Amino acid sequence: MEMLKNFLCISFLVFGFLLLVHAQDQSGFISLDCGLPRNSNYSEPGTKINYISDADFIDTGSSESIKPEYKANLQQQAAYVRSFPEGIRNCYTINVTSGTKYLIRSSFLYGDYDGLNKLPQFDLHFGPNYWETIKFDEVTSSTIKEIVHVPLMDYVHICLVNTGKGTPFISALELRPLTNSSYASSGSLALYFRLDTGSVSNSSYRYPYDIFDRLWLPYSYSKWTQITTNATIDSGSHNSYQPASIVMNTAATPIDATAPMEFYWVPSDPSLEFFVYMHFAELHKMKANESRAFNINCNGKLLYGPLSPDYLYTTTIFTPTSLTAENFTFSLVQLDNSTLPPILNGLEVYTLIDFSQSETEKDDVDAITNIKSTYGVNKNWQGDPCAPVSYVWAGLNCSYRGLDPPRIISLNLSSSGLTGDIAPYISSLTMLQTLDLSNNNLSGSIPEFLSQMPNLKFLNLENNKLNSSVPAKLIEKSNAGSLSLGMGGNPDLCQSSSCKKKKSNNVLVPVLASVGGVVVVVVLLVAGAILFIPKRKRNQVEAGKINAESGHPNDSFESRKRQYTYSEVLKMTSNFERVLGKGGFGMVYHGVLTDGTEVAVKMLSPSSVQGYQQFQAEVKLLLRVHHRNLTNLVGYCNEGTNMALIYEYLSNGDLHSHLSDNSEVNVLSWEGRLKIALDSAQGLEYLHHGCKPPIVHRDVKTTNILLTDNFQAKIADFGLSRCFPTDGGTHVSTVVAGTPGYLDPEYSITNRLHEKSDVYSFGVVLLEMITGRPAIVRGHEKPHISQWVSSILSNGDIRNVVDQRLRGDYEVNSVWKAVEVAMACVSPTSAKRPNMNQVVTEIQDCLATELSRKNESLVTDSATSIETFSITGTTELSPLAR
Ligand SMILES: *[C@@H]1O[C@H](CO)[C@@H](O)[C@H](O)[C@H]1NC(C)=O
Ligand SMILES: *[C@@H]1O[C@H](CO)[C@@H](O)[C@H](O)[C@H]1NC(C)=O
Ligand SMILES: *[C@@H]1O[C@H](CO)[C@@H](O)[C@H](O)[C@H]1NC(C)=O
Ligand SMILES: *[C@@H]1O[C@H](CO)[C@@H](O)[C@H](O)[C@H]1NC(C)=O
Ligand SMILES: *[C@@H]1O[C@H](CO)[C@@H](O)[C@H](O)[C@H]1NC(C)=O
Ligand SMILES: *[C@@H]1O[C@H](CO)[C@@H](O)[C@H](O)[C@H]1NC(C)=O
Ligand SMILES: *[C@@H]1O[C@H](CO)[C@@H](O)[C@H](O)[C@H]1NC(C)=O
Ligand SMILES: *[C@@H]1O[C@H](CO)[C@@H](O)[C@H](O)[C@H]1NC(C)=O
Ligand SMILES: *[C@@H]1O[C@H](CO)[C@@H](O)[C@H](O)[C@H]1NC(C)=O
Ligand SMILES: *[C@@H]1O[C@H](CO)[C@@H](O)[C@H](O)[C@H]1NC(C)=O
Repeated sequence: MEMLKNFLCISFLVFGFLLLVHAQDQSGFISLDCGLPRNSNYSEPGTKINYISDADFIDTGSSESIKPEYKANLQQQAAYVRSFPEGIRNCYTINVTSGTKYLIRSSFLYGDYDGLNKLPQFDLHFGPNYWETIKFDEVTSSTIKEIVHVPLMDYVHICLVNTGKGTPFISALELRPLTNSSYASSGSLALYFRLDTGSVSNSSYRYPYDIFDRLWLPYSYSKWTQITTNATIDSGSHNSYQPASIVMNTAATPIDATAPMEFYWVPSDPSLEFFVYMHFAELHKMKANESRAFNINCNGKLLYGPLSPDYLYTTTIFTPTSLTAENFTFSLVQLDNSTLPPILNGLEVYTLIDFSQSETEKDDVDAITNIKSTYGVNKNWQGDPCAPVSYVWAGLNCSYRGLDPPRIISLNLSSSGLTGDIAPYISSLTMLQTLDLSNNNLSGSIPEFLSQMPNLKFLNLENNKLNSSVPAKLIEKSNAGSLSLGMGGNPDLCQSSSCKKKKSNNVLVPVLASVGGVVVVVVLLVAGAILFIPKRKRNQVEAGKINAESGHPNDSFESRKRQYTYSEVLKMTSNFERVLGKGGFGMVYHGVLTDGTEVAVKMLSPSSVQGYQQFQAEVKLLLRVHHRNLTNLVGYCNEGTNMALIYEYLSNGDLHSHLSDNSEVNVLSWEGRLKIALDSAQGLEYLHHGCKPPIVHRDVKTTNILLTDNFQAKIADFGLSRCFPTDGGTHVSTVVAGTPGYLDPEYSITNRLHEKSDVYSFGVVLLEMITGRPAIVRGHEKPHISQWVSSILSNGDIRNVVDQRLRGDYEVNSVWKAVEVAMACVSPTSAKRPNMNQVVTEIQDCLATELSRKNESLVTDSATSIETFSITGTTELSPLAR
């Protein structure tokens, strides 16, 4: 039986011959000839691939050439290499399209470029993750490593790491976009081997034969023969793998037509998880009495069958889940009623590669990258700033929490020769606790933003040339003990807010001395605070836990049960096939769980910090909150940067689309609208009065009210919610967030969050339900719905306010009451607004009034209507269960 080995060390940068193939599109290809002089480019003669210099993608390394005697027969990109004699880790940063599946290939051919004639060994990292150790067999043999990977950021880092066994170098880097649905797997894949079985030439093929530029190695075996055709093999639109026609039009088949076709390989590590992709196409035109059918077995078990490949048409058979074994034996076994033996046209084997270490939070990366270029920081700052831990950028410290993206928590650029202003990008490092910019030549004033950095506890600006005055807030924080502040040694800096003109150094000396004293005091205060704060925090956490447990004792256990892996998310959404909508921080997809339950899967786009924080907040909240009028969290996924919330699927969409639907067909009745209003009010009432501490939703609007198949309303999207403590006041100060039209005017002025802000938004929603108009009509004289309603009410009949599509089918007193409630809710001053308890009672009254009218008219109506009514009477109007 034939043993397949890891073929990737074969010298196949050598290209046998050139066939004429019509030119193919290289769009999306990124082809870097590493070491090629800056701004150079060429079309490689054999492959016609356009290579460009790598100089714009890396700051370090030197350009070298392999020895001329080794260049013959090689593809042109092997001629130059970039070598990295300096630094432990050197990284490429390559812009990509995030979310696209890429084939990423790095190629290495030593060719004695350094004249040492000594084969080096070094590591290759993909961003924060180990990829491979690069080793060589011979001076002229190429080592090629390929992965299939979906970048989550719009860049990738590829790093060469010196492990003390020689100078790292690289010949070429190539990225090729693939189709989304190909190479489905539970993670990133590393190529194990890819074979053109049945090849009759000795050539390996790549682009332009293969549109994705996969490298196919010829493979033959003494017990196999070949069948071939000159016809083109169609991959068709059904096959996303699209293996090259020239690979597919040769197939291997056993010489002994009665024997099964077998091959095996022994994994280099028995824990490796394999994914196998086999490509088949029938090449033989069948006569009436001929047939070919076979089963595919792996280690004696049926993997797939029976298979009868289509004539001149590619069929790909792949393993949807990974296989693990100490020895893989595949056999293709002819069926009894088949007249022809099995065939195999192409074979690809990949292993799962662990790329689970997250990259540093994108905003932190952007900020520190801008800081680096602003100051021209002369340190080996390359690749991911925080990961892997052993290669953190000098001067940075980071926090690592589980699979969350690392965050930068301290930055020390002391004595780094910095000049110019304090860079504004620093303000984007929102988790920063320690900032040391001492002993530089920084000038200009101390920016205000330093006093607003939420986590900053230590700030050292000593011995610079800063001038003007210190922001008052900074001094305040320092006096309050929440910030350790060092500012001495800035001769032109005015330390108190009262002075304006520059004073002589003589006057400043005593001030500086006293500042030194203040710093000492402040440090002591901070130390005291540190001893104290964690204890308080712990108390708060425990309080939250007790609250959660009192309602649902199994919560913490259940929440673990409801965690899904990213591959399960891929499966339940059929690779994100159906988009339901776009939320504030990412796309929402339709999904189906294994038990058939439909779900809405909300993916968090990893590029938004705000989104990330919202995700955390939302998971914490939703696991704690249960109510029939709040969307139910079915589960979540938190796998590296793949974060998803899985909600129950509400088939009737959101209230907004029902109200703005201009067709006259599916008009929501007044009764229906009141029930939705009552449901939503009860959901909010629960958040405000049923939760301890109370929860302010902060983004109540018609698009956040979802409807079940029988039009029960549930409030969605707690992303903006904040718990605020019951002790110490009834408001919390936070960044203004919300949707125009729904935003409490008082909140946007004072920035003080209050349950009454939700009451305002709910009032707007209620007005929309009454009028059928949107919250804001741009260009209208009275743009806001509350202005419009009061102007109509002041000079006319209430019927002019009500949605014309209701055609007068409502109890007028019921509408009057609803308008009154809504207008009270949208009072400009929060004190005049009712609370949600009161709102619920009022809407119950409105509904009862409307139903009593209907009840009378229903007496002669059909039984189903009466039944509907009775369900309404008992369920909808019963007091809150909680
Ligand atoms: C290749 O180089 C030529 C000049 O030699 C330049 O005009 C062209 O834009 C370059 N192409 C790429 C892709 O860089
Ligand atoms: C990559 O993208 C960033 C941001 O979009 C841009 O500033 C940079 O110039 C790009 N780099 C290259 C090599 O195109
Ligand atoms: C593949 O996925 C990316 C990101 O989700 C998307 O932009 C692109 O349109 C998809 N391509 C196809 C062919 O579906
Ligand atoms: C393929 O290579 C082998 C050995 O390298 C050689 O014997 C054989 O003739 C070659 N076949 C073709 C078709 O070039
Ligand atoms: C393919 O074409 C070549 C030359 O055109 C011919 O010699 C060969 O017999 C053809 N093979 C098949 C399988 O048709
Ligand atoms: C199929 O029929 C042809 C004659 O048309 C004959 O020569 C051949 O032997 C038959 N093959 C089989 C497997 O019966
Ligand atoms: C793997 O299995 C094949 C046949 O199934 C056998 O010939 C070979 O010796 C086995 N190798 C190892 C290392 O077990
Ligand atoms: C051959 O046998 C298999 C079962 O062994 C059956 O599924 C298939 O339909 C048969 N094919 C023909 C052409 O009879
Ligand atoms: C980073 O952390 C290490 C160890 O905890 C500490 O010694 C070092 O001072 C810190 N660096 C900065 C800049 O805070
Ligand atoms: C920053 O680094 C310098 C040495 O370069 C060190 O003296 C200083 O203590 C560091 N600052 C902090 C806050 O760790």
